[in-house]
Amino acid sequence: MAQDTRDSESVESRFLESCEVPEYDFNMAPFVLVIFGGTGDLSRRMLLPTLFGLYAEGKFSRECHIIGVGRHGLSDSAYRDMVGQSVRDAGEVKSSEDVASFCSRVSYLQADAGRAESYKEVCRRVTEISSREETASVVYYLAVPPKLIEPIIEGLFGRGLCGGAANPKVVIEKPFGSDKGSAVKLNSFILKHFDESQVYRIDHYLGKETVQNILFFRFGNSIFEPLWNRRYVDHVQITVAESIGIEGRGGFYDEAGVVRDIVQNHMMQLLALVAMEPPAGFEANLVRDEKTKVFRAIRAMSEAYIDKFMVRGQYAGGSVGGERVCGYREEANVAKDSNTATFFAGKFHVDNWRWAGVPFYLRTGKRLRRRSTEICVAFKQPPLRLLGRSCDIIEANRLVLSIQPKEAMSLQLNVKQPGVGNRPYAITMDFDYGESFDVRTRPAYERLLLDCLKGDLTLFARADATEAMWDVVGPIISRWDETAAKDFPNYAAGSEGPAASNRLLESDGRAWRPI
Ligand code: BG6
Repeated sequence: MAQDTRDSESVESRFLESCEVPEYDFNMAPFVLVIFGGTGDLSRRMLLPTLFGLYAEGKFSRECHIIGVGRHGLSDSAYRDMVGQSVRDAGEVKSSEDVASFCSRVSYLQADAGRAESYKEVCRRVTEISSREETASVVYYLAVPPKLIEPIIEGLFGRGLCGGAANPKVVIEKPFGSDKGSAVKLNSFILKHFDESQVYRIDHYLGKETVQNILFFRFGNSIFEPLWNRRYVDHVQITVAESIGIEGRGGFYDEAGVVRDIVQNHMMQLLALVAMEPPAGFEANLVRDEKTKVFRAIRAMSEAYIDKFMVRGQYAGGSVGGERVCGYREEANVAKDSNTATFFAGKFHVDNWRWAGVPFYLRTGKRLRRRSTEICVAFKQPPLRLLGRSCDIIEANRLVLSIQPKEAMSLQLNVKQPGVGNRPYAITMDFDYGESFDVRTRPAYERLLLDCLKGDLTLFARADATEAMWDVVGPIISRWDETAAKDFPNYAAGSEGPAASNRLLESDGRAWRPI
């Protein structure tokens, strides 16, 4: 071997011990999963079909108990009918026997989350199962609006359900707070009742296969990491473009807006995966430490900076994929003069040794031309125009990681056009997941639910990270709340966003990749 960096047995064994991710143990111990919001949209569209898929594939113990908790008065059998319908609607069903078998593991509990009394029955059922099956782990999944998180945890705590031998886990959905203050308050409330190691703050982006590939790709290949820094990278673009609108969630969205909905969580996570340092190992806290450092290194923004380098937009009516759609202000439960942004573009600086001087441009929006989430690492031009004047038009190398709906990677390079002269020709080397692997796109929740059951926190946000992410975006939200946008709506549905978004890059001599 020409060079062996693993030059001592002890170093090698440390990394094998800490970095090897074991295959799932299909005989995972039995568990009790209590889903608060068990009849809600998230449960019906996402959680129950995903659980069913895992169950049908034998990916976890058949000795599982799923208790849906909701306000509606339903019998167990009516709830099972609803569950069966949800999994069929999601198109996950190969055999109706599987559905019947899965539904037999499901029961229902009618409860008002705000009433302490409701937790008596939760306690009775959970205790009864845990005492019968001693090894059963217990998970409380809070698929509920944010205002119910505290009452539910309070209720569980009141019955002694947050601790004990089962060492239960609690899963909290986004949005995690609505600003830094509320996130700090929520974290401190949760951590009064649970230990951080029991808390799974979910961001479904982290469960996507292509998102997990970012770290794998960076640290599994030796050729890119030496280039992954300010010396070779000109800038980074991260785009989360959606063609859908607000999908009937006007009440929520008009309060939240694009920065709370996407930038504070999904986009910050993508940025962290691109920018973070190699962790000292792949244990959850080592990975989460590195991500948190990135959030802390993002340059704080003054009002003047926000006004100049952060762009907001709101969609007007238009046409998406050939279909006429209304403007944001015409959506149900949205104020007719709403100041809420549905589009965001901005320039961020990660002020650390690796990234000083490299802008990270982030862009996301609803009702854009098409759905496309991708990360583009744009490398610098060669240092010298050695190849003559034609090199004025040479395209800089770009590495594009396509997250969805296309799951792919491409590297843009230059070759010489055949013939006399030095005329460059841009080529791309492409890799497409679908062509190389015979796997369906797995729902992000699948991986996250399994990790939670297994007790692996790597893909879940830690308290300090959620607060640090709010530190980054909080000033933008406040500034935009204080100053009404005078030009809303400023982009047509089906377009690539407002003109100011293009100007943001043009003024730096750069351009967005087309959506
Ligand atoms: C959710 C947002 O977190 O992510 C939605 O609340 C958004 O507004 C969705 O549409 C996007 O998720 P995905 O996986 O479709 O990119």
